[in-house]
Amino acid sequence: MPHQPKFPGKLIAFEGGEGGGKSTQIQRLAARLKTLGREVLASREPGGTPIGEQIRSILVHNAAGDEMCPEAEFLLFAASRAQHVREKIAPALARGVTVLCDRYMDSSAVYQGFARNLPADTVNSINRFAVANALPDFTLIMDVPVAVGLARVASRATPLPDRMERQTAAFFQKVRDGYLRLARERPRNTLVLDATLPADTLERQIWDALAPLLAP
Ligand code: TYD
Repeated sequence: MPHQPKFPGKLIAFEGGEGGGKSTQIQRLAARLKTLGREVLASREPGGTPIGEQIRSILVHNAAGDEMCPEAEFLLFAASRAQHVREKIAPALARGVTVLCDRYMDSSAVYQGFARNLPADTVNSINRFAVANALPDFTLIMDVPVAVGLARVASRATPLPDRMERQTAAFFQKVRDGYLRLARERPRNTLVLDATLPADTLERQIWDALAPLLAP
């Protein structure tokens, strides 16, 4: 593997199953960092760029997506990620910006690898090809029991569940187990949070976990 230069900025990935409250915590952390005068980029996958948003609509919202095979699904997530990294994430990290990403390469490892049973080594190598040297400095996994997460999603204002949300509870259980397994495999830069805790508590836990990394 060639030498991978480190970026001056930090990349924090927020991960987890459905209904874990990632976006609330991203907003809170972004606001806190901005108060301290830090430049922050908050983005999401799939999406984050004009091309990525078009891919997102195929993956998440388009009826044509219902017939998609797992291989095509993964390659579309990876295509969105490759564009996102080159157009937004890597340039921001190069400028020293703190990047907060709502889902990143672990989502593919877990949803397409563990839950859809695509081979882990293939998923990992395509993930690495997509992100190049923009690897997360830290990953926060918002962990919530499947029934709780799905109930939260169902109570949202959106009228119909999207394509991914229509998967079975067994699928989401595999997703949850997959994230917990990833966290066990690399405890040094990954933290699992109990996302049933109040948002204020989670915000504090996230701040405590990231403070050493994000300290000026
Ligand atoms: P989104 O509405 O962003 O879901 P959430 O609010 O739960 O983050 O939809 C993204 C869906 O796509 C979500 O179900 C997770 C899934 N996904 C993958 O399966 N693989 C991936 O690589 C990514 C980024 C997302």
